[in-house]
Amino acid sequence: MLIRPFHTGDLEALRRITVEAFDGTAMDQNVEGQFGLLAGHDWRWRKARQVDEDVAANPAGVFVAEDEGKVLGYISTRLDREAGKGRIPNLAVVEAARGRGLGRRLMEHALDYFRREGMAFAMIETMTNNAAGQHLYPSCGFVEAGRQIHYAMKL
Ligand SMILES: CC(C)(COP(=O)(O)OP(=O)(O)OC[C@H]1O[C@@H](n2cnc3c(N)ncnc32)[C@H](O)[C@@H]1OP(=O)(O)O)[C@@H](O)C(=O)NCCC(=O)NCCS
Repeated sequence: MLIRPFHTGDLEALRRITVEAFDGTAMDQNVEGQFGLLAGHDWRWRKARQVDEDVAANPAGVFVAEDEGKVLGYISTRLDREAGKGRIPNLAVVEAARGRGLGRRLMEHALDYFRREGMAFAMIETMTNNAAGQHLYPSCGFVEAGRQIHYAMKL
C-alpha cells in the first residue's frame, strides 16, 4: 500500500469513493432529506462535485492511497498561506479497506504536507453523526474548537 500524489486519471475513482463513503453523513444528503431533489441534482452529484473542486483548488495537495493499482482512499487539502492554515475538506477510505489504519495514514500524510508547506495550524470538520471522524481526529491531535449549526431553506 502506498500513498502518492493525485493523478488526473484518479478523478473518477475519487468521485465514486466519495459518494459511497459519505452515504449517511453528507450534509447535502440531509438537505435532500428535508426538501427532496433540488435544481435537478441529487446529493451524490453535489458531493462528487466537491472532489472536482478539491482537485481544481489544490491538485498537489490531494493524496491517494493505492494498493496493487487499486485506489483505496484519498485525502484532499487546501492551503491558506497568508493565514498559515491548512484545511482538510475530504477524507475517505473504501469500506472494504477500513479499520486497517489507512485513514490515519492519510491524515498523517496531509499533516506532514502542511508542515512542509509551513502552515501554522490545521483544521477539519465532521458531522455530529460521524463517529469515525470524532474518534480519529482527536486521536491525531486535533482539539475541538467549536460547533456550528447548518440551516437550509427551500426557495
Ligand atoms: C473516516 C475514515 C476515513 C476512517 O478510515 P479508516 O481507514 O477506517 O481509519 P483507520 O483504520 O485509520 O481508523 C482510524 C481510527 O478511527 C476509528 N474508527 C473507525 N471507524 C470508526 C467508527 N465508525 N466509530 C468509531 N471509531 C471508528 C478506528 O478504530 C481507529 O481508531 P484507533 O486507531 O484508535 O483504533 C473512514 O471510516 C471513511 O471513509 N468514512 C466515511 C467517510 C467519512 O466519514 N470521512 C470523514 C469525514 S469527516
